[in-house]
Amino acid sequence: MDFCTNSCDYREDRSCDDGGPESDYQGCPLGTDCSDCGPRKIDLDQEKPKFHTFSGSDGLYKLQQKYGGSVAAMLRWNGLWDVASINVGQKLAVNAAAGKVVQEDRVPAAEKARRQRVKIASRVLSERSLFGKRYEAYLDILLNEKKTPVNKPPCVMPSHAELIRDPLPHMEDPLPTLEELQARFQPTEANGWWSPSDCEAMDTVAIVIPFRNRDYYLRGFLAHMHKLLRKQKLRYQIFVVDQVDEKKFNRAKLLNVGTVEATKVVPLDKAVAPGYRFCFIMHDVDMISLSDALPYNCPKEDEGGPRHLSVYTVSHRNKCLYKELFGGVAALSYQHMVATNGYSNLYYGWGGEDDDMSARVRMGAGLKIMRPRLCSGPCRVHGDCMRGMGKIPGYEETQDENFGVWYMLGGRPEDVRDKQMDPKNLKYLGYAEDRYPAEGLNTLEYKLQASTLARGGLYTHLEVKL
Ligand code: UDP
Ligand code: BGC
Repeated sequence: MDFCTNSCDYREDRSCDDGGPESDYQGCPLGTDCSDCGPRKIDLDQEKPKFHTFSGSDGLYKLQQKYGGSVAAMLRWNGLWDVASINVGQKLAVNAAAGKVVQEDRVPAAEKARRQRVKIASRVLSERSLFGKRYEAYLDILLNEKKTPVNKPPCVMPSHAELIRDPLPHMEDPLPTLEELQARFQPTEANGWWSPSDCEAMDTVAIVIPFRNRDYYLRGFLAHMHKLLRKQKLRYQIFVVDQVDEKKFNRAKLLNVGTVEATKVVPLDKAVAPGYRFCFIMHDVDMISLSDALPYNCPKEDEGGPRHLSVYTVSHRNKCLYKELFGGVAALSYQHMVATNGYSNLYYGWGGEDDDMSARVRMGAGLKIMRPRLCSGPCRVHGDCMRGMGKIPGYEETQDENFGVWYMLGGRPEDVRDKQMDPKNLKYLGYAEDRYPAEGLNTLEYKLQASTLARGGLYTHLEVKL
């Protein structure tokens, strides 16, 4: 049957996005980018469950090539922990519809009810872990709707046009020394926070940087970010979470640590009181937004979900790697961190930790990933990624071609990590959305060796052992 609708988000952009023959991208379901691809022959059985009997010689990678989707998705659909645990003759679900059938059969009703109870309890536990000793104070403000007396007008984010009028250089040349930066960018409030003097900052933003041995990038990052965050009229502080043990680098766990440590020092009356917002921007140290209008404020409560901000890099201007991508730079409100139970603590070494969070956000907490520009890349987990995506409201009409595009600092050969994902991480990824209530913020343990306002408060340096 020939089928044609124009419901794809990327219709009329002169590239065919429906994943069919000769298409440029696989961003939308077949037959929905009619203006760029023309009508398609639709296999009406496509959404029916498809199974494959495992012969032993047809590894998951081959099945992925044959049926689409990803290895991680196949593991998830079949409730498997790793590739080695598949038996010859086993009937495998190879599309999302079949995955649902397997899940339904696999989990008995009593277990489903237990998981629901765990989910509810985990929310409370993770909220308590986040606020720690200040939990009672937080509840007091929240439950009694305690208003904070202010005598200044609320700060308003300057308009897109204003922000891009005099663009900041991406990398100052020559780069200021740390002494120069220290002289220019000092905090104005207690505990290392900065806020504008002429208005009341309604958004408090903790920039959380996972870090080890990247001083070379940090200086460039600080030189740029202090200017940008001040331009956007935010209350902010930069937290550098430095892994000082000998273990493999664990980006996600460092982000959880930064979240908890930032919450310890946030002025609660300006973070959780009515009208205020408090959020975390999880930020790789080597990324700089090309557009000064990229919003570093907090996601609004009714926006749909956390924001994934680093959609495109300069070298991949029109190519976002894949739709579920959540790495690089992402903004989550404290409510989002509670709803997802934060990041997983299990991912040591490169890769997968951001994909795990993406699954927590969309499939665990039922939120959307909101972006400054839509991602035109493929769905990695075939069939279940289209619904959980959106665009940050208010930016639909921008002509700013740098919006959502990022410059990556440096790239010194000695800093390039081995990008081979540890098989353990792939295994964890296979059941991310089932595991999230039981592991994350509510099970976070670490040793804080030191917390210092470095260079008079240019940034907060947290030295941690994981
Ligand atoms: N990182 C770090 N030291 C390391 C490895 C990673 O500080 O040894 C931090 C740094 O903020 C970096 C981020 O983790 O930007 C992501 O790591 P990387 O750039 O190696 O991964 P990619 O972004 O290329 O996947
Ligand atoms: C990894 C992610 C990473 C992405 C982009 C994926 O294969 O799982 O952790 O962010 O590639 O490099």
